[in-house]
Amino acid sequence: DGFDLLVVGSANADLVVGVERRPAAGETVLGSDLATHPGGKGANQAVAAARLGARTALLARVGDDAHGRLLLETQCSSGVDVSGVLVGGAPTGVALITVDPAGDNSIVVSPGANARLTPEDVRAAGRSFDAARVVSLQLEIPLDTVAEAVRAAVRAGARVVLNPSPPAALPAQVLAACDPLVLNEHEARLLLRDDPASAQDTPEAWAEALARLGPRSVVVTLGGSGALAARSGGAAVRIPAPHVRAVDTTGVGDAFTGALAWRLARGAELEEAVEYAVRVGAAAVTRAGAQEAFPTEGEIAGA
Ligand code: RIB
Ligand code: NA
Repeated sequence: DGFDLLVVGSANADLVVGVERRPAAGETVLGSDLATHPGGKGANQAVAAARLGARTALLARVGDDAHGRLLLETQCSSGVDVSGVLVGGAPTGVALITVDPAGDNSIVVSPGANARLTPEDVRAAGRSFDAARVVSLQLEIPLDTVAEAVRAAVRAGARVVLNPSPPAALPAQVLAACDPLVLNEHEARLLLRDDPASAQDTPEAWAEALARLGPRSVVVTLGGSGALAARSGGAAVRIPAPHVRAVDTTGVGDAFTGALAWRLARGAELEEAVEYAVRVGAAAVTRAGAQEAFPTEGEIAGA
């Protein structure tokens, strides 16, 4: 009995405060009551996919502490297989998040246990890769660990989905395995910094330029404007988003990527998977928090 999706990545406790505006250096502002939510890009993707019906496993590391227990509980109650979640070595990762009245957030992450998820941990989890159709990754764990997971996925014949967030330069063999590389406009600009396409102003031009950098396909998310899909050497296709009122964008990209990976595991074509993921992202943005805001299969089917 295999998994549709194996997520290899981070798990964080999100400590969230609403603010009227962000403080400048040296300034103090008062915010709302503190809210503690389960988060982290890896854990978010896993919960998003499981809630939509995917058989999902998470390979991650949390601390032996209350935040770690919160994360494990949320994964379990969402139906994620947590036998690959390692415990101990450092405190659970924490994300310090401020959310402004427009629903935009700023995040500082303390990786904690995420930074102790090693290539050896990935090797020890080898069997989970054989059992997965799609392996989904982000960059809140060490790059060596990501590279090892990509190698394991390729060896096992699994499809690799990667969100390069927070942005870092990717080894060529990691980039070459991505199908797709999923990124937002900010991440796209950073990856294209040295590319002539960065001078062009259309996201279509960026998506096509990114597709020429080596991945098998690229998806660029455009927030309220939907997303673009491009295959290596092909033209970008734009998929519009339904119009919604944004309350909290935290984790929306992760919900998008988890949903996308799940549809691809089911055998959907890239554009079809993006169209589904755009609807999942639109639902997630209308509610506060990351994982608690993610929709169920029924909600999306009825949308
Ligand atoms: O992508 C959103 C996530 O980024 C948050 O849940 C936070 O933990 C940070 O990792
Ligand atoms: Na949200």
